[in-house]
Amino acid sequence: MNSFGPHPIERLPVWIQRQYFSVKSTRITELTACFRTEKPIATVQAASAQDVDTAVQAASKALKHPSWKLLSGTDRGKLMSKLADLIEKRKELLASIDAWDNGKPYKVALSEDIPETFNTIRYYAGWCDKVSGQTINTTPEKFAYTSRQPIGVVAQIIPWNYPLSMAAWKLGPALACGNTVVLKAAEQTPLSILVLGQLVKEAGFPPGVLNFVNGFGQEAGSALVQHPLVDKVAFTGSTATAKHIMTMAAKSLKNITLETGGKSPMVVFNDADLEQAVKWSHLGIMSNQGQICTATSRILVQNEIYNSFLSKFKEAVSTVSKIGDQWDESTYQGPQVSKAQYDRILSYVQIGQDEGAKLLMGGQPWRIDGKGYFITPTVFTEVADSMRIYREEVFGPFVTISSFKTEEEALSRANDSTYGLGAALFTENLSKAHRMAAEIESGMVWVNSSQDCDFRVPFGGVKQSGIGRELGEAGLEAYSQIKAVHINMGNKL
Ligand code: NAI
Ligand code: MG
Repeated sequence: MNSFGPHPIERLPVWIQRQYFSVKSTRITELTACFRTEKPIATVQAASAQDVDTAVQAASKALKHPSWKLLSGTDRGKLMSKLADLIEKRKELLASIDAWDNGKPYKVALSEDIPETFNTIRYYAGWCDKVSGQTINTTPEKFAYTSRQPIGVVAQIIPWNYPLSMAAWKLGPALACGNTVVLKAAEQTPLSILVLGQLVKEAGFPPGVLNFVNGFGQEAGSALVQHPLVDKVAFTGSTATAKHIMTMAAKSLKNITLETGGKSPMVVFNDADLEQAVKWSHLGIMSNQGQICTATSRILVQNEIYNSFLSKFKEAVSTVSKIGDQWDESTYQGPQVSKAQYDRILSYVQIGQDEGAKLLMGGQPWRIDGKGYFITPTVFTEVADSMRIYREEVFGPFVTISSFKTEEEALSRANDSTYGLGAALFTENLSKAHRMAAEIESGMVWVNSSQDCDFRVPFGGVKQSGIGRELGEAGLEAYSQIKAVHINMGNKL
C-alpha cells in the first residue's frame, strides 16, 4: 500500500488541540473516529449551549466594533485573500486531516476539496469591494438610493461530506458582505476547522469576526439556531433537520438559507453519447462515497439503449470504483463517514430487496484486515417508482437504474420527487436538452455531465431541497439586505 499522506494522524490530535482549539470547556466528548480502522483518532470538545453563547456574544461584539464595521471592502478583501493563501499553503495538512476524519481519499481531498475551499474564499475576496446599491430616480423632487448592508450575526451549520469546502461556501459570501459568523462543523468531522480557525487568526481578522464551534446538533446546533443575537441561519444537511431548524428560526423570524437533500435524476436518451453518459453517471453517484447532496442517484435510461447502458455501467463500476484505504493513491472509494451512515446504507439494501427490486451488484460490507465501514458500490434495477429506494435519499454508493420510453415520460418521472436539487441530461439533441432543462424541477441542470459545481455559479435547490442560493453573485443576496433611502429635495407634500 502506498501511504502518501504527509501528516500521520498519531501526531495530529494532541497538536491540533494544543495549538488550534482555544475555547475553554469543562466537558470532553469524543466526536470523531477513523472509519477505515474503526478506532477513535481524536477527542474534541463538544460545545455546550454556554460555549455557543460565548461565541455568539463575541460575534455580536465584533459586528459593531470599528475594526470590522469600518473596514473598507478593499481591506476586507485583503484579509480574505490572505486567508485563501494560507489555506493553499497548508493544503497537505488540511487534506490529510479530512482524509482521516471523513474517510475520503487523500488525493481527492488534496485535488478537489482544498482547492475548492481556497478558490471560493478568494473568489468572494474579490466581491468585497463590489457589494453596492443603486440610485433610483422617482419624481423630479425626489430620488432614492439603496445600499446593501450585512444581515448581522450569522449562524452557519455544515455537514460532514465536504468539511472544508462547505465552510468556505458559507464563510465567503458572509464575510464579503461584512457579517460576523459562528460556524458549527458536523460532529463527524470536527478537526479541519480547528486548523482553519488558526489560519483565520494568522490572516489577521479582528477577534470575534469568525468563531468556530464543534458539537452535536441537538445541543450546540439548536442553541445556535435559537440564540436571540443570531440574525441569520445558513444550513446544509438533511431535509428533516432543515425543517426543524426552520421551525426554531421562525420563533424570532430569523433569515434562513437551507441546502438540503436530494434524489437527483440522471436522464439518458437514446441519442446520448453512451460512453460519456456512463462515465458521468458513474461519477454522479459513486464519487465521494456517494455522499453528495446532488448525487444523481436515480438513473433513467431510454429503452433502446437500456441494456447496453446497464452492461457498460456495471463495467465502469468494476473498473473505476476501486475500494481501499484513503491513503492509497489508486483508491476511488474510501469508507463511509460513520457507522451510522454505513448502517443506514445497508438498511436501504435490505429495503430494496424487501420491496422486490433486483440487486444487480454490490450492497455488501467490505473490509481491510477485518476493519472499515466500506460498502461495495450498489446498483438496483427493476425498481418501481413507488419504492422507497427510488424516492428516498440514501447518501451512499447506491443507485437505481430504470428505463423509460418517451421524453414526456422521462420528464414526469424525473419530476416525481419531493426533492429538486440537481438533474442531469444526456442527449446530443440541443432542442431536447433545452426543453428538458427548462421543465425539469431542480435548482441545477447538467447537460452531458453530472456534478459540475463552480464557485462562480449559483447552487441550491427547489421544492424540499432547499431555500436560497449559495455561490456566485447570487450567494451575496443570502448574506446582505437592501436598505432603501428616500431623499426629498423639494418642498411639496
Ligand atoms: P444532519 O442534517 O442531522 O446534520 C447536519 C448538520 O446539522 C450537522 O452539523 C449537525 O450537527 C447539525 N444538526 C443536527 N441536528 C440539529 C439540530 N436539531 N439543530 C441544529 N443543528 C443540527 O445530517 P446527518 O444526521 O449527519 O445525516 C443524515 C442524512 O442527512 C444523511 O444520510 C443524508 O441523507 C443527509 N445529509 C445531507 C447532506 C447534504 O449535503 N445535503 C449532508 C449530510 C447529510
Ligand atoms: Mg442528524
